[in-house]
Amino acid sequence: MPVTEEMLHMVRRYIHEKPTIGLILGSGLGEFAEQMENKRTVPYEEIPHFPVSTVSGHSGQLICGEVEGATILAMQGRFHYYEGYSMEEVILPVRLMKKLGVRTLIVTNAAGIVAKSFSPGDLMLMTDHLNFMGNNPLIGPNDDRIGPRFPDLSSAYSPILQQLAREAAKDVAIPLKEGVYAGVTGPSYETPAEIRMLRSLGAHAVGMSTVPEVIAAVHQGMDVLGISCLTNMAAGLTDEPLDHEQVITTAERVKIDFMKLMKKIVFL
Ligand code: 6GU
Repeated sequence: MPVTEEMLHMVRRYIHEKPTIGLILGSGLGEFAEQMENKRTVPYEEIPHFPVSTVSGHSGQLICGEVEGATILAMQGRFHYYEGYSMEEVILPVRLMKKLGVRTLIVTNAAGIVAKSFSPGDLMLMTDHLNFMGNNPLIGPNDDRIGPRFPDLSSAYSPILQQLAREAAKDVAIPLKEGVYAGVTGPSYETPAEIRMLRSLGAHAVGMSTVPEVIAAVHQGMDVLGISCLTNMAAGLTDEPLDHEQVITTAERVKIDFMKLMKKIVFL
């Protein structure tokens, strides 16, 4: 299902002005949207033909608001491939954001640690990704009005926005690690052998989202910035069993710093 006029019409009934920045909020990071000013909320259920998210009971919503004078359209609750959504459904919000005028997309996620030098609670600037999802959201006929058949991903994560994020982190004195995010489907976490493989292939973090959205965003000409909240050591790097509980607990702990950094990034 592409973005329809009906969808746009409904969203525009809630959101009257043009958002300049789109923000996808990862697990445990949704609170950033709460503290925006002048908020307007559109529950996904209200948007015709929009998928409804399944994770942990509450379905998602779009929240439009102002931060540091910028109009931001935030997605609270994304669609994960592991939930059974098609790639097309996973990227639909990114397509919608474009139609609403968003030019810059900030993607966030909770991710597992692959690089031995990182610790739970670190924030990581995404400098690149590895697509291990065994799929690509652009498979199928290409709509040349949206973007090229063979989009270039050699600077998928805007070098200018990366530099801006580094400066923002310095200004607010929040350490910002950097690295490559490996996107996998989940929902099972990786085996220790898979984590060793990902490390040897150049991954620093691993997660179950973000890669499809970034590919779609770059395809349609958006500038992308990615920030991972590193919530836990991946398999083989810890004796503790991995669970979603730890992902949420760590994201909760880091969220004050995360929100401070995001606010500064938007301001710069
Ligand atoms: Cl260890 N793996 C994956 N795939 N996603 C995660 C994670 C690990 N920790 C948080 N999200």
